[in-house]
Amino acid sequence: MQEITNDQQHLIVDRLGRRFRNLRLSLTAACNYACTYCVPDGKRLQAAAYELSGEEIVRATRLLIATAGIDKVRITGGEPLLSPKFPATLQGIMDLGLTDVSLTTNGQLLPRYAQNIIDSGMKRINVSLDTLDREHFRAIARSGDLNTVLHGIELMQAGGLKVKINMVPMHHVNDDQILPLLDYALERGIELRFIELMNMGHLQASPAYQREFFSMESILERIASRYSFSRTDAPFDSTAVRYEIPQKGTFGVIANESEPFCRNCTRLRLSSNGALYGCLSNARSSDIRSLLALPDEQAQAELHQVLLGALADKQSENFQGEVTVMKFIGG
Ligand code: GTP
Ligand code: 5AD
Repeated sequence: MQEITNDQQHLIVDRLGRRFRNLRLSLTAACNYACTYCVPDGKRLQAAAYELSGEEIVRATRLLIATAGIDKVRITGGEPLLSPKFPATLQGIMDLGLTDVSLTTNGQLLPRYAQNIIDSGMKRINVSLDTLDREHFRAIARSGDLNTVLHGIELMQAGGLKVKINMVPMHHVNDDQILPLLDYALERGIELRFIELMNMGHLQASPAYQREFFSMESILERIASRYSFSRTDAPFDSTAVRYEIPQKGTFGVIANESEPFCRNCTRLRLSSNGALYGCLSNARSSDIRSLLALPDEQAQAELHQVLLGALADKQSENFQGEVTVMKFIGG
């Protein structure tokens, strides 16, 4: 671990040169879906017993910009649009003047909040969508309505936001949707990203993981049956490997198993109940609620110590998986 000075800031950097730049804020642990890969029993995740207020989340973000050098924020959940504090918190985060603020949502409440999002000045948004088939949609999400999500996506595009779609292809569940979803996305200038099923939460103890895992190689093989494509550039800390289909558009693969990206990971997570996580694959966290009540200087000094521990929690190579439910610590 070493420290570098950048614009008056003392930033913490680990032996692989990694530092935190990308903060994922979970507004609530609650979700209005109960996706099969996320929860085992069809029961939706609930809000944590105590959740940070919008003001606390904005203050934490401001402190983390100063201590960690955060320059990107992603608002997540649970499902972030389920939280009544969403509109005010969004505005508070936008007012911090970061270069990149975005949102990951399942899209079910997008029509309700479309105008807030557009008016906030947000430039891009990621929407989770695993199928274009209405019945299969409900079989996977065990809730929600496909057309509402599609309408939400249209509203975002009409409002000038760049949309990415995240799809988790699963063997014999929705792998038949790889090409239909890709066509849907290409026709609309949307970047579709295929996520390799991650060995998290209940999947760690379930035969479903092996049975349903659909590899990057299989995804690319399926796409190659219709399109020619070649690998194209991606930001150094991107979750996705990106491909270009000439004259048509781009798509990505988030290959946690086949092409892990831990070596370039810049992510830091703040869960809805105030715990800071340095790694998606490590359940260790630090509760920062009490330090949010301290004056700036003292809060920053304490946060600096917490960040040293959080950065040390990152894995060096592969994603190991965790029993933590993905949605609980912010997608
Ligand atoms: P962009 O900024 O648009 O690239 O978004 P993103 O990919 O960073 O965020 P998004 O919320 O859309 O996440 C998509 C997927 O990336 C998740 O479902 C995970 O599969 C994966 N992912 C996100 N964060 C992490 C992480 O910290 N570690 C690992 N291993 N995977 C992650
Ligand atoms: N494997 C892959 N992706 C997952 N997500 C949630 N759980 C898993 C898992 N086990 C995805 C959602 C969403 C994103 C934020 O996280 O589908 O696209």
